[in-house]
Formats: sequence, structure tokens, C-alpha cells
Amino acid sequence: MMCKSGLFISLFFIFLISCNTNPDIRISEPSMVEIERIHPVGETVAKDLMLTLQKELQAALAGGNFRQAIKICERKAIPITITVAQREYSVTDLKRVTRKYRNPANAPDSVELLALEYFDELFARQNDRPDNFIQKITGKDGSYFNYYKPIYTNGLCLSCHGPNTQMDQEVLHILDSLYPGDMARGYNAGDFRGLIKVQIRD
Ligand code: HEC
Repeated sequence: MMCKSGLFISLFFIFLISCNTNPDIRISEPSMVEIERIHPVGETVAKDLMLTLQKELQAALAGGNFRQAIKICERKAIPITITVAQREYSVTDLKRVTRKYRNPANAPDSVELLALEYFDELFARQNDRPDNFIQKITGKDGSYFNYYKPIYTNGLCLSCHGPNTQMDQEVLHILDSLYPGDMARGYNAGDFRGLIKVQIRD
């Protein structure tokens, strides 16, 4: 299984290089030494963000008031992300990305889109759930790494990201008014929701 994934990762990087439309940067596979250095930082920061957001969400939902909880997500998710990023010197960007976004600030750029495609392809091919993915990006001003950690939904998420038919009318109403182009619905528990991206300096 490991071997199959390894082969797929290598093939995927060949695909990445051929699909990269930005001539100013080059995306490549990190070396083993680079992986050993980047992995612990990416993992720690991604988990920190996940836990911090989850705690905030649980506290917001404790009162049972969804209107309040949605407003807290709207106001606090991005500032919390910035605060978590600032805890680690080597982190130059931290972001949640997904194809089906609610907040347009979380839309993927062309490099992040390639990472989302990597996960989509692996899920489709092997029914495999890779734990993370690392890109090395080299540009005019040097290189950096993008560490990606997948986000999956659980039952708690569905009250705001579930199918329209299963969501509370008031919740739908608030979401429609705050996010007119909202795509982040229709999920079931255990679905792949998107990625946390931790950008780390070389
Ligand atoms: C109370 C409603 C609510 C619940 C419950 C909720 N979310 Fe969200 N979620 C939001 C709102 C509002 C946004 C948009 C604001 C933001 O976070 O940037 C959002 C955004 C997101 C994003 C960023 C991508 C995007 O679509 O903009 C991810 C990823 C996400 N949620 C995952 C989850 C997961 C996983 C759970 C369950 C653990 C969850 N959410 C539970 C309301 C909710």
C-alpha cells in the first residue's frame, strides 16, 4: 500500500509540473530530509488550528444558539487563523482551502488547487486517506513548502454544512443572507471537506 502511494505521489508530481501554468514558480516533490524538517511544523500548526477552531465552535454552540454560532464563525475564523500562524516563526501563511467554499477568502489559488486535486485523485483511485501532502515551491526569491492536512466532517458540522433538506430553516436563512454564493453544503459525516494549508519557509 505504501509503495503504491509512493508511486502515485511521484507520478502526481510529474503531473503537477506539467499542469503548473505559472511560469514563475516550480512545484516539486520535497526530499526525505526536507520532509523530516517540514512535517513536524506543518502537523503541529495544522492541529493547533483545528483544535482552536473546534474549541471556539463548541463554546459558541454550547448555548444552543445557531445564529450566534454562525456569527462567531463569520467574525472569528480568519482572525483565529492569523493568530495561530503567528505562534510559529517559520510559518508564512495559514489558510483553510476547499473547492466548495462558503467564505470566498477560503477559495483555492492555482497551487492549492493542485493539492486538492491530489487528494481527490487518491480518494477516487485507492479509497486511500492520505494523512498529509507537501509541495516544495521554488520561485525567483527562493523556495518554501506548503504542508496540507485534510479536514473531514463529523455530525457536528452538518447543522451548518449538511444537505439543505436537513438543515434548520433559520440556519439556512442566516447563511443565505451572509453568504449569497455559499457552496459549503450538502456534506455528510466523514466527507472530505477541504485542506488546512501551512506555508513554511525553507
Ligand atoms: C454554526 C455553524 C457552523 C458549524 C457547526 C460548522 N461550520 Fe464550518 N463554517 C461556518 C461558517 C459561517 C463558515 C464561513 C466563515 C469562515 O469560517 O471563514 C464556515 C467555514 C468553514 C470552512 C472554510 C471553508 C469555507 O467553506 O469557507 C471549513 C473548512 C469548515 N467550515 C469546516 C467545518 C467543519 C469540519 C465543521 C465541523 C467540525 C464545521 N465547519 C462546522 C459555519 C459552521
